[in-house]
Amino acid sequence: MSVVIRSIASYIPEIRIDNNELAAKVDTTDEWIRSHTGIGARHIAPDGILTSDMAAQAAKSALEKAKISAREIDILIVATATPDYFGFPGTSCIVQDKIEAYGCTAFDVVAGCTGFIYALDIASAMLEARHARNALVIGAESLSRIVDWNDRSTAVLFGDGAGAAVLSRIDEPGRGCLSFILGAEGSGAKDLYLVQADRPNAFSREAPQTPVIYMNGKKVYDFAVKSITVLIERIMHATAYRLDDFAWIVPHQANARIVQAAGKRFKIPEEKFYLNMEEYANTSAASIPLALAEMDSKGVLKKNDLIMLLGFGAGLTYGAAVIRW
Ligand code: UT7
Repeated sequence: MSVVIRSIASYIPEIRIDNNELAAKVDTTDEWIRSHTGIGARHIAPDGILTSDMAAQAAKSALEKAKISAREIDILIVATATPDYFGFPGTSCIVQDKIEAYGCTAFDVVAGCTGFIYALDIASAMLEARHARNALVIGAESLSRIVDWNDRSTAVLFGDGAGAAVLSRIDEPGRGCLSFILGAEGSGAKDLYLVQADRPNAFSREAPQTPVIYMNGKKVYDFAVKSITVLIERIMHATAYRLDDFAWIVPHQANARIVQAAGKRFKIPEEKFYLNMEEYANTSAASIPLALAEMDSKGVLKKNDLIMLLGFGAGLTYGAAVIRW
């Protein structure tokens, strides 16, 4: 038996803000953003549209593509750093209700931008262990809600969106999710975190402040380059594959320079990396499924293509997946 990605789809909010539009509000330029990150635009969820709304839309499209109903989903996982409610309930439970996948297991995964890879590993292991049929794995973010628009070093980086994959257990050995590596370096937790003001005391009338992203860009940059370099080396050691065997490497879409640095190290041609941060910026846990959904809709993913997913992000976490499409 194997666990395959049976379908993949995305939801991208219509509001598009290019670098020049952003530069009217934030002290930056198109030239700086492009040259330092490769980002050209980002999509922003309108007021009132929450992470669960985008996740549910992506999930419905993925179910339609897979030609299965929500009732056939046994496990639903949402990877997100921007849940509808900080704490509880899980955004996955809200999505379950919105798509009417009643009764299935539903929980969230918090692993920053590596969340989708963590969720894929968990879902595929659960499908195998429980002899279950199908899982929905969703990466969804409304990062525009937690961006500090006064901090130009982070405000230019992030965008909103959702990507959803239907995973199914099928009898085709050698296909699907073949290998995973997951890890974390918790000592870097404060290099990328959600700053939340101290809770006012019980008698205070002060309104709590909105949490905002803090990132030590340099530290996270170095961690990202090291992580994807080490992940590629570990995949080469742990599997029989050579880099030439991979049709595509799909990294977390944070910064084109991070990918170029790793590509140089292994002499990997740039075309082997699928990059779409130019249009969507960094959508954290949604970035890898957004890229896969775009590749699928463009027809660049062929059955039996070998694909490597590479992630890194808050935690600090890192992860890789090897998938035979
Ligand atoms: O998804 C989670 C993972 N996140 C990441 O992987 C992000 C990792 N980090 C990065 O990608 C990069 O560190 C950044 C893109 C965030 C920053 O790039 P950098 O080349 O490290 O820039 P910097 O922070 O060293 O800043 C260089 C200069 C500074 O000016 P001075 O001090 O040299 O005069 C900044 O004030 O650029 C300035 N700057 C900006 N200028 C225009 C910083 N942000 C901006 C901006 N527009 N948006």
